[in-house]
Amino acid sequence: MKLSLRNAGWRVRGQDIVHEASLNFEAGQMTAIIGPNGAGKSTLLRLASGLLPPTSGDVWIDGAPITRFSSACLAARRAMLMQDSPLRAQFLLRELVAMGGRISAPFMNTSVRLELAGQLLERVGLAAFSERDVMDLSGGERQRVHLARVLMQLEAAAHGTGRPPGFLLLDEPISAQDLSRQHLVLNLARAHALAGGGVVVVIHDLNWAAACADHIVVMHEGAIYAQGPPEQVLTNALASHVFGLEDGRVRMHVGSGKPYVLPHDMMCQS
Ligand SMILES: Nc1ncnc2c1ncn2[C@@H]1O[C@H](COP(=O)(O)OP(=O)(O)OP(=O)(O)O)[C@@H](O)[C@H]1O
Ligand SMILES: [Mg+2]
Repeated sequence: MKLSLRNAGWRVRGQDIVHEASLNFEAGQMTAIIGPNGAGKSTLLRLASGLLPPTSGDVWIDGAPITRFSSACLAARRAMLMQDSPLRAQFLLRELVAMGGRISAPFMNTSVRLELAGQLLERVGLAAFSERDVMDLSGGERQRVHLARVLMQLEAAAHGTGRPPGFLLLDEPISAQDLSRQHLVLNLARAHALAGGGVVVVIHDLNWAAACADHIVVMHEGAIYAQGPPEQVLTNALASHVFGLEDGRVRMHVGSGKPYVLPHDMMCQS
């Protein structure tokens, strides 16, 4: 399965927020989207998800324009974790996660649905909270329960079919996580790709992007500035042109051969 943007753009009040983006996201691959604040990353992800209709160009998934799919078929093919997913309703965690499969797998047996929701809570490290109210969670816990909900959407649809899960679109999924949970979340995303699902993750941490992604897309001022494998994309030229960092901040890690940026190098020295 493939998810493609074909010259997709979004223009508002005479300004191109995303300008003619053409990208192919492949099943089984993990793509990281990086770029400064306001570069258009979230807008690009919303276009890719079909939640935001492009003002030019189009988006295709699984060989057809995304607009052709019913909401149930689309829900089975892609799920999106928003940058900010507030929770104002009162649900138990397990109920909320189980609801993730409501549209994508409407005929799933309730006990199977709850069982799968319980497993997902375990995978995001929240098994002990499964009967807790979602309103009582910390910021990081809330972000992970939403991740479990979007994974449920795709895994419930694929359950028992023998087909790989659909595309997982994650907008800054580690922004509220401590270091070990950053690792947990990105490993879950990586496992999704290994299971044959596509992953597109917007992420600010260049080091995590280098460590986890097969492919990196750089957005700058609403356009795709560069794309390719981490070692080709994450260069000193990129760090200075796109992020305004002083030259010479990107190093190559001897063990993995992946590029990294060390914040220590960027602090004023006495
Ligand atoms: N409805 C809108 N009207 C006008 N401008 C908008 C609208 N939606 C988004 N923008 C602007 O488009 C730009 C891109 O927004 P977007 O949310 O895609 O950025 P981003 O790359 O995800 O940034 P961040 O890293 O801060 O999340 C921003 O400057 C934003 O203010
Ligand atoms: Mg954003």
